[in-house]
Amino acid sequence: MKAVVFHGIGDIRIDDVAEPKIKDPHDAIVRLTSSAICGTDLHFVRGTFPGMLPGTVLGHEGVGIVEEVGKGVRNLRPGDRVVIPSTIACGSCSYCRSGYTAQCDTANPHGNTAGTAFFGGPEPSGPFDGLQAEYARVPFANVGLVKLPHEVTDDQAILLSDIYPTAWFGALLAEVKPGDTVAVFGCGPVGLFAVLSAFQQGAIRVIAVDGHEDRLEKARQLGAETVNFNKEDPLEAMLELTGGIGPNRAIDAVGVDAERPKEGPAKAKADQMAEQFQQEVQAVTQGQAQPQGQQWKPGDAPSIVAQWAVQTIAKAGTLGIIGVYPPTATSFPLGQAMNKNLTINMGNCNHRTYIPELVDKVRGGHVDPTAVLSTIERFTDAIEAYKQFDLRKPGWIKVELKAESANANLSQAAGALRAADGGQGGAAAQPSAQPDHASAEQGKA
Ligand SMILES: NC(=O)c1ccc[n+]([C@@H]2O[C@H](COP(=O)([O-])OP(=O)(O)OC[C@H]3O[C@@H](n4cnc5c(N)ncnc54)[C@H](O)[C@@H]3O)[C@@H](O)[C@H]2O)c1
Ligand SMILES: [Zn+2]
Ligand SMILES: [Zn+2]
Repeated sequence: MKAVVFHGIGDIRIDDVAEPKIKDPHDAIVRLTSSAICGTDLHFVRGTFPGMLPGTVLGHEGVGIVEEVGKGVRNLRPGDRVVIPSTIACGSCSYCRSGYTAQCDTANPHGNTAGTAFFGGPEPSGPFDGLQAEYARVPFANVGLVKLPHEVTDDQAILLSDIYPTAWFGALLAEVKPGDTVAVFGCGPVGLFAVLSAFQQGAIRVIAVDGHEDRLEKARQLGAETVNFNKEDPLEAMLELTGGIGPNRAIDAVGVDAERPKEGPAKAKADQMAEQFQQEVQAVTQGQAQPQGQQWKPGDAPSIVAQWAVQTIAKAGTLGIIGVYPPTATSFPLGQAMNKNLTINMGNCNHRTYIPELVDKVRGGHVDPTAVLSTIERFTDAIEAYKQFDLRKPGWIKVELKAESANANLSQAAGALRAADGGQGGAAAQPSAQPDHASAEQGKA
């Protein structure tokens, strides 16, 4: 079968690999109809989250059809249409039973202290072959796989595999309550869902920060007030927008590949910290990054979002960190956070815990997650799609990869989307498709 395979930092390819087989009674084999590329995949290819084994199939977002089940899987049968949670959980241990499915004691073969088990990740996470493939083996399938109602399309469901639940979890970590003002750092797909989730959890205002205008435009369509850190000092803008108080909640949806301002009034201050940032980049990449010009280039300011967030959050406020940092990232403005009585919550999403309620919201028509989906590509074009997404090219905000088998009726849709906007992305990227967050969150009064 065909799969996106990690060969080395800066080197991914579509290869022919062996089809997966049932190894354990609780496994299922799923034929992927849809997968997607995530900012987390970029950390692996850029070398800012080290530890990938060459030969690992990438990808941790998937929707598909159950092909075969092991003897221990009583609740699924071949033909069932499912969404696959990115993280793997046994469902039986005390962590799973408390909802901390990303901290399952059993799923990681390296043991209960080894960390989150997930698809397509580095060696210490399993490793488990990922979901950017024609077929995947899903361990603990009886627990993980969530059956999809026919009302929820593949294009909607693929966003429920990882990024919408992660952003929902981010708003929970940030303790968003009715009335809050929430800063969201990063307007990639996860940040855009964080804007949506913060509103859904009661925020009155969301202030979204990024350096890319097309992504900020998307955040505005979802109802956020926006700050471009290449045009304004984000800390000054945040104070001005909040009556000198600061937002009381913030969500970091950027992670280790954070960039510092390249122009505008915030550039000089950030440039003064260039040396510290350079040391941070060296520590996280362990000197292994392999940038090819602008391609696969590590972010140049790993801790800048932590610093901006801690400086801007109002006293006694809360920061939720869902942006991914490798264990080698050690910079955090602890003293400032401590002296402001901030609460900091963070982690890998407990996907399995949140996916069913989000499936219900989509099924009920309360929200259409495709507001964040910009681009649909054929699976066979995955490497080129990775490159465009890595460069944050306008229009390449969230890329879904469609299986060849699904192409009969969908290649046309993808083609039409690309044609409609001059090859810059999908219809959801058009302002007219989703004018504001009220339309993404359909039916909210
Ligand atoms: N915790 C989890 O379970 C989980 C799950 C999925 C993704 N993630 C992480 O979420 C993060 C975002 O994922 P994504 O797919 O949206 O990736 P992405 O790379 O598309 O988005 C990151 C965004 O941050 C912006 N950015 C860079 N520097 C910034 C700065 N200084 N201030 C504000 N914005 C800045 C970029 O321009 C980009 O739009 C990644 O770190 C990813 O690994 C975490
Ligand atoms: Zn992801
Ligand atoms: Zn468990």
